Amino acid sequence: MRIVVVSGTVFGTAEEVAWRASELLSAAGLDVAYQQHWQLQELLQQEPDALLLIASTTGMGELPERLQPLVDALQAQQPDWAGRPVGIIGLGDAGYGDNFCLAADELEALADELGLVMLQDTLRLDASESVTPEQDAVPWLQEFAELLVAWSS
Ligand SMILES: Cc1cc2nc3c(=O)[nH]c(=O)nc-3n(C[C@H](O)[C@H](O)[C@H](O)COP(=O)(O)O)c2cc1C
Repeated sequence: MRIVVVSGTVFGTAEEVAWRASELLSAAGLDVAYQQHWQLQELLQQEPDALLLIASTTGMGELPERLQPLVDALQAQQPDWAGRPVGIIGLGDAGYGDNFCLAADELEALADELGLVMLQDTLRLDASESVTPEQDAVPWLQEFAELLVAWSS
């Protein structure tokens, strides 16, 4: 199973989580593709069987600037990925109140529009509680890897 990891960051934390995720998913025997920035065409060429979307929230509850064009392009193009599994990890800070992890909500809306199947609830990492998000994500990632392996067999 080929899984493509997509990340959006401002300060680099979401990328650290994405690198950790890529290592862990590879170790579980999955064929992982990750790079820090994907153009839509590059992503389509990967022909993903599954996706992992990871983004921090910035501004007043927005997606990182460098990820927004890809999300817009996916919404415009609507690739035929319906029925494929997806996992979503959001990074934020509960101190932002109602804007906590809104980027993850946007990714959930995108996954829904594309007909992707959520294998487990979105992981929302709160920077006010943790300084090691890439470590805190491990139990969720292990479960995600197990669900993907079970899905593909
Ligand atoms: C200018 C700024 C705006 C932010 N806005 C939000 C926000 O609206 N909602 C939220 O949950 N977190 C917000 N955060 C917190 C970040 O999402 C959080 O620190 C995250 O771990 C950063 O991840 P990154 O290093 O991948 O960018 C903001 C942080 C900064 C510095």
